[in-house]
Amino acid sequence: MTSIVVSSGGAGYGFLVDDQGRLRQAGFGPDIDTHMQHLAAGIPNGLYPLAYPAYDEESTHAPALRVTHSDGTTTTRLKVEDVRAVGPQTDILLVDPDCLLEVSLCFHAEDHGVLRQWVSVTNRQPGAVTLHEIAAASPLLATASPHLTHFGGGDWAAEWTTTTEMLTPGTKVVDSRGGVQPHLRSCPFFLLAPDGLPEESSGVALAGALAWGGNTRFAFERTTAPTVRVWCGHNPAAAEYVLDPGTTFVTPEQIWIWSTEGVGPLSRRLHRWVRQHAVRDGDALRPIVVNNWEATSFSFDTDRLLGLIDHTADLGAELFLLDDGWFGDAHPRDDDTAGLGDWQVDEGKLPGGLGPLIARADERGIRFGLWVEPEMVNPDSTLYTEHPDWVVGQPKRRPRRWRDQFVLDVLQADVADFVCGVVDRILAENPGISYLKWDANRPLTDPGSPTLGADRQANYWIDHARATWRLMETVADRHPDQTLMLCASGGGRVDLGSLRWFHEVWLSDNTDPVDRLRMQWAASHFLPANVVAAHVTRECDRPIAFGCAVAMSARFGFDLDLANLTDDEQTVCRRAVQLYRDIRPLVQQGDLWRLVPPGERAALAYVAPDGQRAVVFAFQLTTRSDDPGPLRVGGLHPDRTYEVASFDFAAGTQPHRTDAGRRSGKALMEDGLEWPLRDACTARIWVLQSDS
Ligand code: DGJ
Repeated sequence: MTSIVVSSGGAGYGFLVDDQGRLRQAGFGPDIDTHMQHLAAGIPNGLYPLAYPAYDEESTHAPALRVTHSDGTTTTRLKVEDVRAVGPQTDILLVDPDCLLEVSLCFHAEDHGVLRQWVSVTNRQPGAVTLHEIAAASPLLATASPHLTHFGGGDWAAEWTTTTEMLTPGTKVVDSRGGVQPHLRSCPFFLLAPDGLPEESSGVALAGALAWGGNTRFAFERTTAPTVRVWCGHNPAAAEYVLDPGTTFVTPEQIWIWSTEGVGPLSRRLHRWVRQHAVRDGDALRPIVVNNWEATSFSFDTDRLLGLIDHTADLGAELFLLDDGWFGDAHPRDDDTAGLGDWQVDEGKLPGGLGPLIARADERGIRFGLWVEPEMVNPDSTLYTEHPDWVVGQPKRRPRRWRDQFVLDVLQADVADFVCGVVDRILAENPGISYLKWDANRPLTDPGSPTLGADRQANYWIDHARATWRLMETVADRHPDQTLMLCASGGGRVDLGSLRWFHEVWLSDNTDPVDRLRMQWAASHFLPANVVAAHVTRECDRPIAFGCAVAMSARFGFDLDLANLTDDEQTVCRRAVQLYRDIRPLVQQGDLWRLVPPGERAALAYVAPDGQRAVVFAFQLTTRSDDPGPLRVGGLHPDRTYEVASFDFAAGTQPHRTDAGRRSGKALMEDGLEWPLRDACTARIWVLQSDS
């Protein structure tokens, strides 16, 4: 029996090739080498499950792969043909010798203990095959008390709702649909703790993420055996893929990371990996943004925007982002029913175009950003009048409206050229723009395209997601200096694949800081803070200082009418901006320590990689008179002494910064900081600076 280990940071898979040439999984977890060494040499093959069971190979379980072959055969039998290990990559080639199908299980060991995994299938048959289900990964997890944490399950404004549950016998499916903004309903991330509830700083934990901008599916099949079969991949629902002879289908990538010391260290390593490898310019600091959407919606004119630009600069923020509503010359974009697709400035609203706004931003020393939604069209637009055949649809159906708009069929070459051309032209005409917010405000319906044959319309779900990624790649490549935000009706696109072309994501249109704190907390398991745009708004009328503190714990910005702030509020915002400029490298590049999970209170800290400096955020979410005990910080140097500065920039607090003495790292970690808050929606920030 040949044994194969693929791992990163010691964690991963152990495989065995049995006497019949089948690939079996002998282990999946941390410290896999030791596990494989301890395997009793004489354990019979049959005790190990197939590593990637195809339909009918393990007839009582759901398959990782189900294919109808070109001659109508519905079953698949896979045997190991070759194992190639070159540097960090291992490819295990399986073939079905009777049906001439090649299936490669591909693994790439990354730094920080991350393992990437995907599957490619090549059709060597004389005719087309249909891929009904094809997992990117399908490991079997040994677990006595499997606890799954998943994120979403809600809808618009309820993204990143966290659910932790014990898996019971049966199959738990967490999937997303909708094609364009699938993650609004379910984020493509999960945590699995095999030994009970996940802990922040102890116990085994596994994180999984599917790097895919389309529909995703995770399934967890538990029997009474102490195992869970995990199925990860694009959602196969209504998405059977017809694969022509001689062609290859590659699944999205599944990302794995293990920890034996709880979820905290797992997130810290994953954040480093995301910053270095998964997100565009991951190590660059992000600007403080002022957006006008929640201040003005579609109702603005040049004067109003010039005022906001001035206020942005006065505040010390660094970029003004003009949102929806600036375009639609013949069909003005005064609400969401018209203009989408007509990417000419609405001169009625903005005489002279964007030029005067960009010039003012430039004069005031701030950057200018612009909102686009290039994949969509309103029926009430010149674009739709001229190209009604450019929208996604099926010949016998009237395409359905959603937010009064249609999705453009980006599989059509002319449409793809149009979409990229829109961005090219806007940026060529307005060289002062340096930031784009790419939005998408409806899901796919009526999936179909004249570019696909009648027998392969179901390919649309995959082909559309891939075509959209090609557009994003083209835009990012052609405009390397643009900062790009990915937004889709809120957090509709938040995956680790799309991020390679984007700097940040918009988590949700729900900007109530109480909800937002929970969402940011959930996202922080996977996404580093520099990727998570967080803006102070008027939603739910929380105190501005509290909203500021919540937003400052991620990529800070504002989305409220700066012209209508009271004097006190202005002071609060100015103090917040000033402090954020100072702590930005900690928040955006430091190591996250989640200290108190959101309940009545919440707290977290970011510590510089060298441990010299840290920032601690404490939030009181409900009014409580009891003392919760000290707030113990994590990640400091026990032997160093830290200067502690406490910031409370709530209105009326004078001074907002107070020196809170000198404490050793040990004392801060063991005895902690006294919890200072009692009233709902209050916050405190401490900056810790070591002198050595
Ligand atoms: C949805 C986004 O999430 C909002 O921030 C805003 O840009 C609107 N779309 C504009 O239509």
